[in-house]
Amino acid sequence: QPLNSQMEDGSNLRRVNCRAKGGSPGFKVAILGAAGGIGQPLAMLIKMNPLVSILHLYDVVNTPGVTADISHMDTGAVVRGFLGKEQLEDALTGMDLVIIPAGVPRKPGMTRDDLFNINAGIVKTLCEGIAKCSPKAIVNLISNPVNSTVPIAAEVFKKAGTFDPNRLLGVTMLDVVRANTFVAEVLGLDPRDVDVPVVGGHAGVTILPLLSQVKPPYSFTPKEIDYLTDRIQNGGTEVVEAKAGAGSATLSMAYAAVKFADACLRALRGDAGIVQCAYVASQVTELPFFSSKVRLGRGGVEEVYALGPLNEYERAGLEKAKKELAASIEKGVSFARK
Ligand code: NAD
Ligand code: LMR
Repeated sequence: QPLNSQMEDGSNLRRVNCRAKGGSPGFKVAILGAAGGIGQPLAMLIKMNPLVSILHLYDVVNTPGVTADISHMDTGAVVRGFLGKEQLEDALTGMDLVIIPAGVPRKPGMTRDDLFNINAGIVKTLCEGIAKCSPKAIVNLISNPVNSTVPIAAEVFKKAGTFDPNRLLGVTMLDVVRANTFVAEVLGLDPRDVDVPVVGGHAGVTILPLLSQVKPPYSFTPKEIDYLTDRIQNGGTEVVEAKAGAGSATLSMAYAAVKFADACLRALRGDAGIVQCAYVASQVTELPFFSSKVRLGRGGVEEVYALGPLNEYERAGLEKAKKELAASIEKGVSFARK
C-alpha cells in the first residue's frame, strides 16, 4: 500500500473519476527524490497544477512526512507517498510524467561532474524502474551531471528495449530562467517579457546563452556579453557558494522544473506551439545529445530546432561546449554499458 493512502476505501478514486468527467485529462505524475531540497517545493507546485490528478512522491527517506503535509493542500491532485526501493515499482506504475531530482547536490569547490560517482548509480536504478513500470512516460531528468545522466538514462532504456528519444528530456530550464532574469536586469525589463535561448548542456562552458537571439531583439556591448555569459554559465555556482555547504539551487530549480513539467503536460494534452529548451537526443550537432529549442507535443519532443544564426562569440563558445559535452556524454554511456 502507498503511504498515506486515502485510496483504501476508494474515496479518492471516485474523486479522480469526477475530475476526469469534468474534462480535465488528469495526468499522473511521479517525483523521484521527492523529499529533497528540490523535491519538496516541486511536489508542492505540482500539487497546485490543475492538469495533475495523481501525484506519486518517491524517496528513500522522509516521504511519509512530506506526503502527509502536501496531501492536506485543497487542490485536485491525489497524493500518494512511496518509501524505499521496495516501493519504487508501485510509485512508477502507470505514470504519464516522471520527474527525477534524486541525488546529491554540490558543495562549494565541486563541479557537477564530481557528483557523477554517486548520482550515476541512482539515476541508473531509477531508470530501470521506469523502463519496467512506466515505459511510455515522459521523463524530465534533473539530477546532475545532466550532461552525463541523460546519456545514462538513454542507455538503460535501450538495454530494456523501451528507449524513445522523444520522451527523455534533460531539464536545462533553470539556465533559461536565469538568462531571462539576468538579461532583464541589464535591459531594465520585466523578466517575463524576455526570452533567451540557452543551448548546449548544463555545466559551465557547455551552458551557451544565445544572446544574439534575445527577444525582444537587442544589441549587447562586448562588455555586457562577457558579463551575462559568465553570470549565466556560473549561476549554479553563485547559489552553491551563497549556500556555503547547505546545497545548491532548490527553490529556483523547483520553479524551473514545474514550468518545464507544465509545458510537457500541456503538450501531452494536445496544446499546440509549445517550445522550450531541453537537453535531448539530437542531430543539431555531431553530438548524440544536445540542448536546443524543441517543440513538445503528445509524443514528447516532436521537433528539435537548429541553432539558428550564431555570431563569432557564440561560434567560439559552441566549439568549447561541444568538446566538454562529448567527454561527459562518453562518460555516461560507458558507465551505463559496463
Ligand atoms: P537533496 O540532497 O536536497 O535531495 C535529493 C533527494 O534525493 C534526497 O531526498 C535523497 O534522499 C533523494 N535520493 C537519494 N538517493 C535516492 C534514490 N536512490 N532514489 C530516490 N531518491 C533518492 O538535493 P537537491 O538539492 O534536491 O538536488 C538534487 C539533484 O538535482 C542534485 O544532483 C543537483 O545537483 C541537481 N540539480 C539540478 C539542477 C538542474 O538544473 N538540472 C538544478 C539544481 C539541482
Ligand atoms: C544549478 O545550475 O543550479 C544546478 O545544476 C546545481 C548546481 O550544482 O549548480
